[in-house]
Amino acid sequence: MIPEDKIGEIRQAARISDFVSPYVSLKRRGRSLLGLCPFHGEKSPSFSVSDEGGFFHCFGCGAGGNVFKFVMSMENLTFPEAVRKVAAQYGIDVPEGGAGRTAAPERELIGALMASAVRYFRACLAKAGVGDGARAYLQQRGIADGATERFALGLSPSSGEGLVQWLKQEKQDPELAEKLGLVGRRGSSIYDRFRGRLMFPIRDPQGRTVGFGARRLGESEGDNAGPKYLNSSDSPIYHKGRVLYGLFEAREAAKGLAPDQRPEETILVEGYLDVIAMSQAGLTNVVATCGTALTVDQARLLRRFGGEVLALFDGDDAGRRAAARSFPVFLEAGLWVRGVFLPQGEDPDSYVRGRGLDAMRQALRGAVPLVDAYAREVAGGSGGAAAAARVGAELAEVLRKVENPFEYDVLVKKAAHWTGISEQVLRVQGRMVGRQAAGALPGGAPAPTARPSRSGLPARSPSAEELLVTVLVADVGAIDRVRERDIVKFMREQPWAQVAADLVALREQGRDIDIGEVLSTIDQEARARLAGRLIEDATFADPVAMERVFVDCLERVAAPTETERKRRLLEELRRFEELGDDAGAADLLARWNTDRQSDKTASGAVGKNAGRDSDEG
Ligand code: UTP
Ligand code: MN
Repeated sequence: MIPEDKIGEIRQAARISDFVSPYVSLKRRGRSLLGLCPFHGEKSPSFSVSDEGGFFHCFGCGAGGNVFKFVMSMENLTFPEAVRKVAAQYGIDVPEGGAGRTAAPERELIGALMASAVRYFRACLAKAGVGDGARAYLQQRGIADGATERFALGLSPSSGEGLVQWLKQEKQDPELAEKLGLVGRRGSSIYDRFRGRLMFPIRDPQGRTVGFGARRLGESEGDNAGPKYLNSSDSPIYHKGRVLYGLFEAREAAKGLAPDQRPEETILVEGYLDVIAMSQAGLTNVVATCGTALTVDQARLLRRFGGEVLALFDGDDAGRRAAARSFPVFLEAGLWVRGVFLPQGEDPDSYVRGRGLDAMRQALRGAVPLVDAYAREVAGGSGGAAAAARVGAELAEVLRKVENPFEYDVLVKKAAHWTGISEQVLRVQGRMVGRQAAGALPGGAPAPTARPSRSGLPARSPSAEELLVTVLVADVGAIDRVRERDIVKFMREQPWAQVAADLVALREQGRDIDIGEVLSTIDQEARARLAGRLIEDATFADPVAMERVFVDCLERVAAPTETERKRRLLEELRRFEELGDDAGAADLLARWNTDRQSDKTASGAVGKNAGRDSDEG
């Protein structure tokens, strides 16, 4: 374990933008930096990074955290790995060893074993004699050496215990190999699980092999041929539903291109060979679900690519059904996906090889929103008002799962446009089925006070407390000043008072501030309003203007309200009366009147106490 104080030291030393800028082009915006969120697709920037506070936060999707969290998510590292990586950047030594370091060595062992297996399968494919049949098969499928190389294709020979022997020679742990699904056990003897198959290594985004897909050679359905594909079973490092085949290779290919040459969209297909054929044809931005039904995890992973997602389906009924089924899954991940339906009997592999790249490009241009297939499926072939009502109700229900209010807004508009169902009806329906039940926010916390309307910014101007919190979110330094002035106790409006108190408390404890986490406790509408203001209101991009707002808010919050002052005045008057001090009482009343006079003529943009009093009624 890395000692806490060491972690603290590294965090202090790190400038978070150093780690974000390779992934996101950042522009200064007031005291923070703003860019396009790498965790979800977006066209206008809502991803903010604060070097001062050492955190990042996306107002679009709610992703947020400190430098370690960013490095962990972008580079798929464990926490200690991320800490070491950040430390290395600043030349900070991190002590090795200590108790509790079981996870890293296990991971290293697994990595070494998987890499060893990949070497074996590749060697078998290359070997004269053993690999001849498989190489002929690859050739017949039109897979050239370049692609075989890039996808690290291999062969598991039919002998039955070649891998077992190899791993033994390589001093790899047979039990670990069993845990990873590479070998099986019969009594006390172990055997190769993959025999006589073309091997497709499935890699994580770092390029580490986490599992395999294994295709039968040839088309025969012979009795001992088994299913067409065998796949690794889930293991400590491989979870079918969370992996996309081809992701690493797609990223590698993109790295070789200039940023403005990189494809804008990501293409989703079903099979290993579809990925390889497309990639080989020049469409390198392709990934596959590997035959499982699309999961929300996979959809979220796709979203991290940014850009549009195009899903390719067979043109038959099964393809249409698959498209219809995937629509709600994509939507839940906030993705508005278009589908491409290939002619019956074709899959992406056969199509691109048979008709060429231009034909495939043409097909991709004909993509239609998946909502279409979905609506048809729900309507079940019938038309008319009843079918439309059913589609509307189902669609509203699906939309309800979209957690992010901005995305909800965009998606509901698109859904309305494409189905012809009124936007208002969809919104109202979504509300009637009880948005609150689905009100889990990206931060994971329930939305206790989620209000039904999510129509964006209300006309009402923000109160001093709301503006104050907006400044606190934009600028950590402001939190310290609020703490020094000790004014949170005067705040009355929820959720702002709570948010301010949370921020101050975190600062006091010297803890990292994860804005996303703090904001996850407030209702979506308030959150959206705050984020909208922060991103769109020029005031918060200009340090001078922001400072002015801040000082004004500080005063407005700190000064007791008129009602409060009246209450205090009456208290004092009573005291004077008890003492029989008529002169003192008169003096007090005189002062109160002049105060009120000057309040009314004060030139403040907002009546000094107006907002406060209305809240106390
Ligand atoms: P397909 O049957 O469409 O195979 O399954 P394919 O990818 O086109 O392969 P070829 O062209 O016939 O060689 C699509 C995907 O479903 C999974 C695999 O991931 C496959 O790539 N699958 C299919 C299995 O996992 N097991 C199977 O038995 C069949
Ligand atoms: Mn195929």
